[in-house]
Amino acid sequence: MRPFEDYALLDEEACGLKILAAKKTLGTRCVILGHHYQRNEVFVHADLTGDSLRLSREAAISGAEYIVFCGVHFMAEVADILSGPDQAAILPDLAAGCSMADMASLPAVERAWRELSDSLDPDATITPVTYINSAADLKGFCGRHGGIVCTSSNAQKILESSFAQREKVLFFPDQHLGRNTGFKMGIGLDEMVTWDFTQPQGGLTKEAIQKARIILWKGFCSVHQMFRPDQIDDFLERYPETRVIAHPECSFEVCQKSPYIGSTESILKTIRASEPGTRWLVGTELNLVNRLQEEMRERGVDVHFMSPTVSMCSTMFRTDPQHLAFVLENLVEGHVVNRIEVPEKDKIPARQALERMLALT
Ligand code: 13P
Ligand code: SF4
Repeated sequence: MRPFEDYALLDEEACGLKILAAKKTLGTRCVILGHHYQRNEVFVHADLTGDSLRLSREAAISGAEYIVFCGVHFMAEVADILSGPDQAAILPDLAAGCSMADMASLPAVERAWRELSDSLDPDATITPVTYINSAADLKGFCGRHGGIVCTSSNAQKILESSFAQREKVLFFPDQHLGRNTGFKMGIGLDEMVTWDFTQPQGGLTKEAIQKARIILWKGFCSVHQMFRPDQIDDFLERYPETRVIAHPECSFEVCQKSPYIGSTESILKTIRASEPGTRWLVGTELNLVNRLQEEMRERGVDVHFMSPTVSMCSTMFRTDPQHLAFVLENLVEGHVVNRIEVPEKDKIPARQALERMLALT
């Protein structure tokens, strides 16, 4: 096996040549999936790009022996769960996690479930819904408790189907996606409570739990929390004709000021469909926005980043051309490095929760 140290000091051009040569040798045995937040030097090598939903579907239908996921850890776990036993999911840098996913752990969610049983019968009254940005064992928890997975592009459909089944939803780890989606469905803010996982009983009274329709885990994305409503106000004051679009991981206040809300894929689709002369203010990760700005400039569409400061997903950024060259050249030599394997005990119920989602959307 070639160690990563052989690649750490290579420049981008040298890595690019190695990646191209390895891809050529591996051919259809290997597919590279790239999330929209990846930096350009990596994004250009992806065979397929997309949001979390699209990439999970690609992983599920791919026949490739190796699925190299240029994204973050939970995405490679999903690829492993949905692919076959003869396929390997690979994460070029094993340290590429998601800080939001880390805000909910299986012990903390199991404790919440136990504590909720002081106020009601959770298995009869609550559907657990996990955002795909979560660890595989939490997807497994949802599978075992009649729950389901959602992504930013299908959250409403998933919540509707969950309410058709049970009267309440426990939504984790992202409070904002849950709140923004619930509100859009007509659920009042007073019918949604926030479960503070650092407090006993989530810091809530029995009455508040019994009255709530959605119990929101107090997690958030550090990238999307950088966007603020006053940034929208300031921009609109200077350019009143601007259209505002945000990812649903942004706060309630930002989403309330954004007439367009959508997943990364839907942000791209909406802006690409706009006429020349349109100006957009976008609340999502910087690599996506920079790429889109470049692309749309030629078509006379102006794209602006919502925050005056840089707001990048630092863990997505960990996947660089050096790590991609490292995993691909090892594959060429027959060594599978940085494989992500979800233990069977989690894989089976997690697949159930993911398949429930895929069947609905
Ligand atoms: P999408 O599913 O919209 O691509 O979102 C993934 C993500 O992690 C956003 O922060
Ligand atoms: Fe996680 Fe936020 Fe990065 Fe998305 S942008 S992968 S939610 S840390």
